[in-house]
Amino acid sequence: MSHTALDVIRDEHQALSAMLRSLSMLLTHSRRENLLPPFDVLRAMLFYVDEFPEKLHHRKESTLLFPRLRERAPEMGPVLDRLDHDHAVGEQRIRDLEHALLAFEVLGASRREAFEQAVQTYIDFYLRHMAVEESEVLPAARRSFTSEDWAEVDAAFAANRDPLTGHEPADEFRPLFQKILMSAPAPIGLGPAQ
Ligand SMILES: [Fe+2]
Ligand SMILES: [Fe+2]
Repeated sequence: MSHTALDVIRDEHQALSAMLRSLSMLLTHSRRENLLPPFDVLRAMLFYVDEFPEKLHHRKESTLLFPRLRERAPEMGPVLDRLDHDHAVGEQRIRDLEHALLAFEVLGASRREAFEQAVQTYIDFYLRHMAVEESEVLPAARRSFTSEDWAEVDAAFAANRDPLTGHEPADEFRPLFQKILMSAPAPIGLGPAQ
């Protein structure tokens, strides 16, 4: 049986993975060509991660999905503790990344390496995190949730409006997504690797 919450979570994971892949490609390309990357596009991409996956997706997992699963499947406690910890440090990690980008932009090539390494660490961290959610948490919810649980969790995740999962962006976010879609390389946008 399909559940809106599971579809939304998987779609949002895909959007975040695609964003991170695109970010990595942009950096690889600019390094190979010995160019500075397009900082405005990188800033827009990191800002998206901060505003949508961090504030909407992970927060809703930690405040709604995980507590419900702790009740229904107590054996998942240790896994959920680790994932909750990831969520708790995730916001600081993206801020640190934004700061490392600023240092690269302001101070120049001497900070390229540090920023690229920070991006790679961040990507590895979130890909592992999402893989654990998909391979352990979502199947456990499937096994243990009641129909009342699903009604609540489905309604909460259906309210997410991540523009990278097919929702119209709110007016204030339109220029941000326009920039990302037109300038970032595939798989997230239509732009060249730059
Ligand atoms: Fe998560
Ligand atoms: Fe997630």
